[in-house]
Amino acid sequence: MQIIRDLTSLRAAISGLRADGSSIALVPTMGALHEGHMSLVAEGGSRADHVVVSIFVNPKQFGPNEDLDAYPRQEARDVAMLEEAKVAILWAPTVDVMYPAGFASNISVGGVSDELDGAARPGHFDGVATVVTKLFNQVRPDVALFGEKDYQQLAVIRRMVADLNQPLDIIGVPTRRADDGLALSSRNVYLSAEQRAAAVALPKALNDAARRIAGGETVAGVLKDAIASLAAAGFGPIDYFELRDAETLETLPMLDRPGRLLAAARMGSTRLIDNIAVDPL
Ligand code: PAF
Repeated sequence: MQIIRDLTSLRAAISGLRADGSSIALVPTMGALHEGHMSLVAEGGSRADHVVVSIFVNPKQFGPNEDLDAYPRQEARDVAMLEEAKVAILWAPTVDVMYPAGFASNISVGGVSDELDGAARPGHFDGVATVVTKLFNQVRPDVALFGEKDYQQLAVIRRMVADLNQPLDIIGVPTRRADDGLALSSRNVYLSAEQRAAAVALPKALNDAARRIAGGETVAGVLKDAIASLAAAGFGPIDYFELRDAETLETLPMLDRPGRLLAAARMGSTRLIDNIAVDPL
């Protein structure tokens, strides 16, 4: 695997991979890789001849009081995992390479990024859309893979790619979970053993709510119970627990089309997000 940190070398390496007409899949990450990321890599390998993974902890998508400095960084371990998975290139630019002095552009995707995490984390999706567009322009992949764990992020990227005619396919990959159901996340390392045990209430609340809504119970009542169950398990504050249209993320007062339950809540100082599909019978 080539580990590349500057744009000139990246362009040469990508041209090399493409010389025989090969296709490229990109898996954008912020590192601290886990099985969830590796399932994106495996899916990329089944959809293209070569997989490129980027690791870049993007300062533009962290708010002033968020965990940019604390975000786990473990490149040596990540490199070993990517080598094992036969990744062709690790693209690991520094902040100066990604955002050189004078950088002044911003990509903002309206609508789908306004609420939920967009409201709880102002500027977050602008930071994501801007860096993902740069990664697409740098790597020029045929396909890029994103986890459904960050469901709103996936919806924002799909909207952006469609609106801006970005020439690649976006693939969403189902969330990987621990045996007890907690969604895998690089941020789970922040949880103490006690918090980790209590955190299982989040996927449980989503599963219970999905089953009840699909069974015909009133959405508002089910959401109220779900929020109460999270609070009883020690979550707080709870940023949102909502039923949304699976594609546009508009609020769904009743399940009359494919929906998605999305939740974000804090366990101690760790903010966890998760989501699940809910389909009308
Ligand atoms: O999901 C992530 O890890 C990040 O938001 C992404 C897509 C790599 C952009 O920084």
